[in-house]
Amino acid sequence: MCGITGFTGKQPALPFLLQGLSKLEYRGYDSAGVTLVNSRKLKTWKAKGRLSELEKLLSRNLTQSCGIGHTRWATHGVPSNMNAHPHMNEEETISVVHNGIVENYASLKEELLAQGYHFQSDTDSEVIVQLLDSYYRRKPVMKDALMRTVKRLEGSYALCVTSIYEPNTIYVAKQESPMVLGRSEEGTFCASDAPALLEYTREILPLQDGQFAILNKDSLEVFDAKGKTVIPQWIHFPYDVQAAQKNGYDSFMMKEIHEQPSVIRETLRGRFHGSRVVLPIIDQLDVDWTTIHQTIFIACGTAYHACVYADILYRRYTGGLSSVIPASEFRYSNPAVDEHTLCVFVSQSGETADTLAALKLAKARGCVTIAVVNVLGSSIARQTDAVLYTAAGPEIAVASTKAYTTQLVLLHVLVLKLAELLQHRVRGITRIIADLKRLPEITEQALETEPEVKKLAHMLKDKNDAYFIGRQLDYPTALEGALKLKEISYVHADAYYAGELKHGPIALIEQDTVVTAIATQPEVCGKTISNIKETVARGANVILITNPDTDAKEFKYVVRIPEVTPELAAIPSAVILQLFAYYGAKEKGCDIDKPRNLAKSVTVE
Ligand code: F6R
Repeated sequence: MCGITGFTGKQPALPFLLQGLSKLEYRGYDSAGVTLVNSRKLKTWKAKGRLSELEKLLSRNLTQSCGIGHTRWATHGVPSNMNAHPHMNEEETISVVHNGIVENYASLKEELLAQGYHFQSDTDSEVIVQLLDSYYRRKPVMKDALMRTVKRLEGSYALCVTSIYEPNTIYVAKQESPMVLGRSEEGTFCASDAPALLEYTREILPLQDGQFAILNKDSLEVFDAKGKTVIPQWIHFPYDVQAAQKNGYDSFMMKEIHEQPSVIRETLRGRFHGSRVVLPIIDQLDVDWTTIHQTIFIACGTAYHACVYADILYRRYTGGLSSVIPASEFRYSNPAVDEHTLCVFVSQSGETADTLAALKLAKARGCVTIAVVNVLGSSIARQTDAVLYTAAGPEIAVASTKAYTTQLVLLHVLVLKLAELLQHRVRGITRIIADLKRLPEITEQALETEPEVKKLAHMLKDKNDAYFIGRQLDYPTALEGALKLKEISYVHADAYYAGELKHGPIALIEQDTVVTAIATQPEVCGKTISNIKETVARGANVILITNPDTDAKEFKYVVRIPEVTPELAAIPSAVILQLFAYYGAKEKGCDIDKPRNLAKSVTVE
C-alpha cells in the first residue's frame, strides 16, 4: 500500500502534491518523494521517513505546474532514500511513481540488465521506468510505450508517469490498485484515494482496472486496455476529508475490517504454482531440515493467537513436534532450544520489545529463525534468517484486524511449505490450496453477515462479561474474539477450550450470560454443541458460529460462515468476531480506534 498524487494545471503543483500525500499517509509513511517537471528537466526530491522529512528539503518557491508524488509503504526493498519513489530512467527524462506489486519484476530486471540497464534501488517498481524507457526508445510515443509496458507487468499497479518530452502531461495506468482522477478550473489531478483531492475538487472519477488516463492542464482523456477512448462517468464525491480517509466508515477499525479481502489477496499473491506453495526465501535457507527436531511459534497478543493456530496446523500437517509460547514468557523461560529448533516469530509492527528479546535469545542459542512480519525493514524482519511479509498495509486502528487474518493466511502457507521440506504429505492439500486461493471471496462473504452480527451485538449493551469457546482450530478464534471484545468495548471477555467449560468456568454461567461458541471443525463440532447445550440449560444466550450445513435448529442465534475447508474456517470466523466486537463497542459508546491504555506498537517490556 502506497499513496500517489499527481497534478498538471495553471498553479504550482507542489502545494497540491504535498497536501495530497499528507492525506494519504494512512496508506504508508516510511519514505516520500516528488518529481516536478519543466521543459528542460525533471527535478526529483526523496526522503526516508515521514512526509515532514521531504518537506524539509523543498523550498516553497518551486513553481513548476506539473508533478507527481508518492508516500511509500515498503514491500520490496527496505525504507531508504534509494528505494523511495519516484524512480527515474538513467537520463532522468522519465519519472514514475507506483503503488502495487510487480510479481515478475525479477525476470523483467534480468531482461533489462541484459540490455545494459542499471538499477539503483531494490524495488520492484524501478523495472517499470526502465521498461518504459526501453519501449519509448524504440518508438517515442508515450501512450504506446506505457501500454506496452503494463502488458508486461504481472501483479498489481497504479502508476503515474511524467517526462520532459511532454512536460505538462501525466500518464496514468491502473490494475488492482486504486486510482482516482479529479478536475477543476485549476487543472487535472490524480491520487490513490479521494481524500487527497477533496480540498481541490469534488468532481471525481475512479479509474477502472485496465484503464489508462492522460492528464493535461485543461483536459483529461480516459481510454481502455485496447487504447479506445472511454466516456468517463464523473461523480460528485459525498464525504468530507476525514470520512473519506476512512472510506466513509466511522473508524479505521471498520475500514480495516473491510479491507481484508483485498489484503488477503495481496498476501497470497505469487505464493502458489498450481497446487504447490512457492516460498523461495524458505527454500534458500541453508538448513538441513532432517535435523530440525521441534518448531516453536512465538509472538504477543493477537499475533500470539495467530501462532496458536499455526501450532495446531503444524502438528497436523507435518506430524512433527511444535509448541507455542508468548514472547514475554519465552524470553524468561530458559527454553530447551538449540540449532535443532526452528523458531517462528510473528509480529505486525516488527518492533514489539518482548518478541525482539525472544528472537535475540533464540539466535544466541543457535536456532533457525523465520519471521512473519507486516512492516518491511523492521527490527524483527532484519534480524531473522528469513522473513515473510504479510501485505496488510498500515494498520491504523489499535485493535488488530487485517494484520491478524493475513498472519493466519501466511502462516498457513508457511506451514504447508515446512511440511513439504520435512517430507510429510498433507492430506487434502489440493482442496486446501484451492480454498486458500478462494479466501478473498470467502472473506467477502463473511463480511455479508454484518447486519445480523450487528443485531446480535445488541445483547452486549448492558453486559460486563462474555465468554468465547471453541475446540481445535476454533480455539485461537475464541481467544482472538475475546481479546478484540475486551480491547475495544471493555467488556470482560474470556476464552476457553469448549471441553474445559465443565471443569470450572461453567460456574460463571447464569441467566442471559453471553456465550459465543465457534463450532466449525467437523471432528469436534458435535462435542462443542453438547457443551453449548450445557450453558443454554443454565440460561446463557448462546451465539453459535458454524458451518452452512451444521444442524443448529435448537439454537436461537446462529451465524453461518461461508463454505470452506475446515482448516481455513478460522479466517471467516475471525471476521465475524471482529464485527461482533466492533458493534459491541458501539453499543457501549467506546472510542473504537483509540481504546484506553493501549498503544499500537509495544516497544517497552
Ligand atoms: C491486539 C493487538 C496486540 C498486538 C501485540 C503484538 O489487537 O494489536 O495484541 O497483536 O501487541 O504486536 P505486534 O504484532 O506488532 O508484535
